[in-house]
Amino acid sequence: MTKDFLNFDKSKNYIEESSHHLAGGVNSNFRVGMKPNALGFISAEGAHLIDMDGNKLIDYYLGMGPMILGYNPHSIKQAITKGLEKGIFFGAQSEYELMAAKLINTLVPSSEIVRFCTSGSEAVQLALRLARASTKRNIIIKFEGHYHGWFDNVLWSNKPTLQHAGRRENPNLVAWTEGQDSHSGDNIVVLPWNDIEILENRLSKGDVAGVLMEPAMCNAGGIAPKNDYLQKTKNACKKNGSLLIFDETITGFRFSPGGAQEYYSTLPDVTILAKAIANGFPVAAITGSKTLMSLITSGRVVHGGTYNSQFLSMIATVKTLEHYSRKNFHSELNKKTIFLKEGLEKVFSDENLSYVISNFPGFIFCGFGSSNNPVDYRDLLNLNSEMYVSFCLEMIKRGVRILERGAWFLSIEHSIESLEKTIEAAKESLTYMKKNN
Ligand SMILES: Cc1ncc(COP(=O)(O)O)c(C=O)c1O
Repeated sequence: MTKDFLNFDKSKNYIEESSHHLAGGVNSNFRVGMKPNALGFISAEGAHLIDMDGNKLIDYYLGMGPMILGYNPHSIKQAITKGLEKGIFFGAQSEYELMAAKLINTLVPSSEIVRFCTSGSEAVQLALRLARASTKRNIIIKFEGHYHGWFDNVLWSNKPTLQHAGRRENPNLVAWTEGQDSHSGDNIVVLPWNDIEILENRLSKGDVAGVLMEPAMCNAGGIAPKNDYLQKTKNACKKNGSLLIFDETITGFRFSPGGAQEYYSTLPDVTILAKAIANGFPVAAITGSKTLMSLITSGRVVHGGTYNSQFLSMIATVKTLEHYSRKNFHSELNKKTIFLKEGLEKVFSDENLSYVISNFPGFIFCGFGSSNNPVDYRDLLNLNSEMYVSFCLEMIKRGVRILERGAWFLSIEHSIESLEKTIEAAKESLTYMKKNN
């Protein structure tokens, strides 16, 4: 019996037509190149997306992470509809931004005071400026494979090939894009992540303004920090007068109400928050101590942005953050994550695959072709990405949309039934791949 697979022709035709009017038919380079083709969507509900061909897909992209409450949470929709009656945008203060800031200061352990921006990329820039102003130093340490937005000064060594990456202990700075200011890396030092000795050594020179990292590597891969790595990093930063900056764009509000810093009990000097902060509305923030952030308050550090704390986005932020104080929110999210992880693990083992799989609350990473748990970026290069991309294609043909880079974002709306369907689709996909290769 041949199975009826989903068809994506309408999306394909749409992208083809749209590419005559929009660059590449998309508005982010990270939305191109998916197999069978980039999709167009008409609506969404819960953990499902409805595409232009009418396919209802169980979705683990979640808009690259933000939609942790699912695609149309009632409380947010209702509040936004009411808010629209009052206005769209004031370009000034509203009561909601105060409510949102208070909620963040309650939820995020290191946060005393907040500044809102509109994207993670922007918030990263403000964090770097703050670190440089406060230390009167220029050097920023970032880590190989860690992504912190698309601006020139952090688009270094995100995905270098081994051929270009240089020595592990002292990696080359590898630019990602044409047109990148070649001097924008002059004050950036790239190091391997999860290696405290190398980091301590470099910090001891005493010239580093800030250490920028995802506290768990989630944008590329799904790698936990080694035991004590975060705390030792914090100690080394303190000893050498450098600031520790956690980019919690993905981990924030997902790992726990207070993000990865709460999950791993290590508080940074500066935190970048985005994605799950507003369930799909364009909001990001940086937070830190009142003393540090007074550099912004006093105007010594400049920060602007027409759309910062946009009225409706702030309503969405308040309504989103309110969910995280619910007692069982994160334990429920984590239960779903573990259910899916264990189901996938069983399927991969039954198929005798060599694979890696890791999980955090609301997030799974998996890859094929190696069973050595990755510790840093270079270990991820051992994985068979071609095979994983084929797996993604088989999954979407069966109604499950997963990211080709191995990340799975879970929402509170993923039901056990949808997780079971996902596990079944994984089984069918791998069996099909085995037969047809
Ligand atoms: C860890 C991390 N930092 C920064 C960014 C950039 O955020 P944005 O896309 O909102 O600019 C991302 C985006 O995926 C991210 O994953």
